[in-house]
Amino acid sequence: MKREHYAGRDFRRAVNIEDLRRIARRRLPAFSFEYVEGGSEDEVALRRNRDVFERITWLPRTLAGVGAPDLTTEIFGRTCHLPVIIAPTGFNGLLWPQGDLALARAAASAGIPFTLSTVSNYSLAKMKTEVDGQVWFQLYPVKDQKAIDRLVDMAREAGVETLVVTTDVPIFGAREWDLRNYSAPMQLRFSRKLDVLAHPRWLWQVMVPKGAPRFENLIEFLPPGVRSAMVGARYMGTQINAKLAWEDMERLRRRWPGKLVLKGVLCVEDARRAVEVGADGIVLSNHGGRQIDSCVSGVELLPAVASELGDRLTVLVDGGFRRGADVLKAMALGAHGVMIGRAALYGLAAGGEAGVSHGLTLLRTEMERVMLLLGCRTLGELGRHLIRS
Ligand SMILES: Cc1cc2nc3c(=O)[nH]c(=O)nc-3n(C[C@H](O)[C@H](O)[C@H](O)COP(=O)(O)O)c2cc1C
Repeated sequence: MKREHYAGRDFRRAVNIEDLRRIARRRLPAFSFEYVEGGSEDEVALRRNRDVFERITWLPRTLAGVGAPDLTTEIFGRTCHLPVIIAPTGFNGLLWPQGDLALARAAASAGIPFTLSTVSNYSLAKMKTEVDGQVWFQLYPVKDQKAIDRLVDMAREAGVETLVVTTDVPIFGAREWDLRNYSAPMQLRFSRKLDVLAHPRWLWQVMVPKGAPRFENLIEFLPPGVRSAMVGARYMGTQINAKLAWEDMERLRRRWPGKLVLKGVLCVEDARRAVEVGADGIVLSNHGGRQIDSCVSGVELLPAVASELGDRLTVLVDGGFRRGADVLKAMALGAHGVMIGRAALYGLAAGGEAGVSHGLTLLRTEMERVMLLLGCRTLGELGRHLIRS
């Protein structure tokens, strides 16, 4: 029998992340939904990020007398109520008004960290005063060293403790849906403009109050008086550093006193190198399948990286996490925590802060259920013995 998903628009009726995804799809204009959804080129890596979880099979322990499972963990010395961090994503203001703030507040309520992207639409300094929770900052190490230094100083002045440096963008991945949706950079095609008009609720909520979202943390690097995301995107396009190298990470390590996390590591040798440059953590990540196509998923590298280096640095992983069980599989393979990108964005697009909170509650409930079914009370009891290889 064919399974049907929820077909309405009320995020409270979503019973899993896929339901939220479908609500998001109905709510957003196509260009915006595709921006969230797409991968690069043939989207092989994007699909692999999901397929990998189906190949990991549990060997549960029965009659374990678990009671109430405890999903608390510690990441960089801070308590997290779930082993989950919201990943940095740009342009969140396109999904919901002040989307970054909504994500950060939902994360704070759930007791987990939120990562603000360099290309976010909300000021870091403002967010740090408004959100009573852990806010990490993600840095795109651009060409202009002065801009890097300013962004790092901005993070330090705002009181950020954890800096996530994205290492896998020496050039943008070939995101071909963009070429189809736009006739020129940031210029939507006529058919896509008509599609926007067919989403009046989104237009009214997201675009009408304050106009198109802006890159609030890049304002000082744009021409005076210009804040538009269009100019911001053009600036970022000129600033991608094709020569990005390990020496840049050494330099950042010298400048940044807090926790340093390198995001975009995809092989054991690079994980070792991260330890050598003094990183506190890494994110095994293929950028949600948006950069190099046909590459491994971070989860596939976990066993090797975690067993060799797991006691020397914090090993985080992302890519394709849509179920509580996916998170637990990564923890069983040695991860210290998991970053979620789209799973949080679907909730955001479906219902703002409340939608993200609903998604996080769904993930929590799934994790609690699977912990009981596995026979584990704490995250520390998860391990390779529960997985059939
Ligand atoms: C819409 C979107 C925007 C993203 N923007 C950024 C970004 O600004 N900086 C960054 O380091 N990663 C960015 N990423 C990658 C995410 O941080 C993360 O690696 C990825 O989403 C994880 O895969 P998942 O979406 O399947 O959970 C973005 C991903 C998406 C889907």
